[in-house]
Amino acid sequence: MPNFYATTPIYYVNDKPHIGHAYTTVLTDVLTRYHKLFGFDAFFMTGVDEHGQKVQKAAAAKGVSPQQHVDEYNVHFKNLWAKLNINYGHFIRTTDECHKKFVRDSLQSLYDKGEIYSKEYEGWYSVGEERFFEESELVDGKDPISGRAVEWLSEKNYFFKMSNYQQKLIDQINNNPSWILPDFRKNEVLGFLKKPLNDLCISRPKSRLAWGIPLPFDEDFVTYVWVDALENYISGVQDRKHADGTPLWPADFHLIGKDILTTHCVYWPTIIMAMGWELPKHILAHGWWLIDGSKMSKTSGTGVNPMDYIENYGVDVFRYFLIREMVVGQDATFGHDSFVRRINSDLANDLGNGLNRIHKLILTHFDGKIPAPAAEIGEQEKELESYAQKAMQFAKENIGEAKLSQIVEEILNSVRALNRYLEATAPWKLAKSAEQKDRDKLATVLYAGAKTLKNALTLLSPVIPQKAEQGLLMLGASDGILGKGEALFPRIQEDK
Ligand code: ME8
Ligand code: MG
Repeated sequence: MPNFYATTPIYYVNDKPHIGHAYTTVLTDVLTRYHKLFGFDAFFMTGVDEHGQKVQKAAAAKGVSPQQHVDEYNVHFKNLWAKLNINYGHFIRTTDECHKKFVRDSLQSLYDKGEIYSKEYEGWYSVGEERFFEESELVDGKDPISGRAVEWLSEKNYFFKMSNYQQKLIDQINNNPSWILPDFRKNEVLGFLKKPLNDLCISRPKSRLAWGIPLPFDEDFVTYVWVDALENYISGVQDRKHADGTPLWPADFHLIGKDILTTHCVYWPTIIMAMGWELPKHILAHGWWLIDGSKMSKTSGTGVNPMDYIENYGVDVFRYFLIREMVVGQDATFGHDSFVRRINSDLANDLGNGLNRIHKLILTHFDGKIPAPAAEIGEQEKELESYAQKAMQFAKENIGEAKLSQIVEEILNSVRALNRYLEATAPWKLAKSAEQKDRDKLATVLYAGAKTLKNALTLLSPVIPQKAEQGLLMLGASDGILGKGEALFPRIQEDK
């Protein structure tokens, strides 16, 4: 059995999740379910990033301790994943003791190898933004973001010798063309690597930021939150194995948004190289969900609340929209009207109608048992069958690049072919005829129709698990005896 291990980013718990977070997690869930369907021992991990400035600030704003804040907020993520029917193998929190120990041990080993040094850093520091700026970044001598005064600060910190790994990283990218996906993101990383790579500051003085994992070799400092966070991908699966006994790491896929490309494609691999660990096999960056042309975000308060959509329209319909609407890699717009249009056309019209027609006709004319086809299978049936086969083949060939929107479209094409086939063969007319040849054709049409739908529902099951299962039961999944009819995909009727 082939193996598969995928990861989502671990999300900051500074606020509640929105559709952007829901998307990456649904995407990873769907990708993992497809691998299971195609015979892989497949597992994925998600979780939360609980240390650092953002979280410390959010806690302070509420007047609670950071630990109280993260204990409360990680639950919002877990609850949403339960509502979204997310079948993760493990949920990691970076405050887990075993994660903290892993990070400290790994940093100690880097330190012992001479990969970490300390130096005094001087620069313009903005208290408002809590970060240093280059002289050239300042606007009229002030913080370019908040416009406030900056002060000259000198601070000791620890640095990882990231610059030593620049050429090795460039070689890795060039020698493995599908390591970073899609291609244009790979080129973006290579573009970034044209400039000399700096060493990476991996510490924050406790006096400035207390909420983090203390450095094992200097307890006056905490670990920079990104170094802490990235190591979750290994720390979280240390004690797990695939069914055949092989360890989960290295991951087959890191799924991320394009906002965190550099941390995953530069910081993380160079840390891994210095540690002497194995590199992940693919890093796939998707685009952003936009609202009115700008990125949906917790910080700017523009996030659509996924809970509302799940409650109003149902979980599978929402999952379907996310997966079908965003071409992995490109940006997409979340609009309520396009949501309604998409669901009504693909699910209510195409899939729902096809399913209801076939179910009703078999119920009425064959006592609810799928008929055997007539001996002679015609050209029309062969054409219909070819659509189903194409969808299956396309899914198997493209799942390795996570082309989920395109896979779903191929499946829907087979459903549309079925509806055209029904229009052309008009089984409702055949049913009125007393002639044996019409009776035979009716049996063939309903058999072929049920077969196409079962294929489509099986292939859609990673995207719409519950609806697919209900649809398969309606079609008598195992014994050919139909289940009771249900309107699985009601049309969304909304007054404008
Ligand atoms: O960056 N469209 O966490 P984060 C699509 N803790 N996806 C979006 C999105 C949008 N508008 N907004 C967010 C962090 N996302 C770090 C990660 S990993 C070791 C540490 C998704 O809470 C997308 O996957 O800011 C993005 O990369 C991630 O949420 C950022 O989540
Ligand atoms: Mg972010």
